[in-house]
Amino acid sequence: MSLRILARFGVSLFLFFGVVAATMDDGNPPRSRTGAPAVASVPAEGLCMDCHDSFSVNLGGSVSLIDPPTYYSAGATYTLTLQVASNQTASNSGRKWGFQITAVDPVTGNGIGTFANITGQGTTITTGRNAFSTRQYVEVGTQNHEGGASPVTWQLQWTAPAQEAGSIHFYFSGMASDGSGGNEGDWVYQGSYVLQDRTTPLVPTSLGRLKARYR
Ligand code: HEC
Repeated sequence: MSLRILARFGVSLFLFFGVVAATMDDGNPPRSRTGAPAVASVPAEGLCMDCHDSFSVNLGGSVSLIDPPTYYSAGATYTLTLQVASNQTASNSGRKWGFQITAVDPVTGNGIGTFANITGQGTTITTGRNAFSTRQYVEVGTQNHEGGASPVTWQLQWTAPAQEAGSIHFYFSGMASDGSGGNEGDWVYQGSYVLQDRTTPLVPTSLGRLKARYR
């Protein structure tokens, strides 16, 4: 290989890895892609589909929390189980799975409570940037369940704020990827869950819920 070709190869390698590092946050999904809506002054988050855009969201699968608690108590720590289910990648033997989750105060839009990894689950924690700097994210890290059959799960911990703070909204994205190593051919899912505090009464109808806000 001549020096010139070698140099050219080096430049393309640099460009290639430079772009990949910029897009995937050094191998992990970019922050703030849970699909959380705009709240107060915090804008809506993107979704994994910002890049993994081959298909519409929520086709033939789901992302959900399995048996989450209905209520939280101030300062208590909960183990949450996040599940991604999809048969879309059943024929891709090298399929990989991914997710990202955050907890949002529905009044301020700020992140709320504290997340922690559980040893052995292969998850990673990051903090948002700019408008999302108060939010924490737990996401797929070293454990992407490569080749695993649907459904796959990860466990993580969340500790409630020291004082009760009304309902808390969890937003999460999930991915069933074909394992091709790129951002095409992957199926993206989005979900949310509202965790109630013990002092605000549960109101069954949406009209009642609306009224409760103005009491
Ligand atoms: C800004 C663009 C971008 C966003 C947003 C993004 N990704 Fe990716 N993702 C990529 C690129 C580029 C690749 C392929 C190269 C690599 O691994 O860096 C990739 C690859 C992957 C793969 C491996 C896919 C395969 O077929 O092997 C997984 C899993 C993955 N991303 C998960 C996620 C999850 C989960 C989210 C949302 C929380 C997400 N990504 C959001 C750019 C993105």
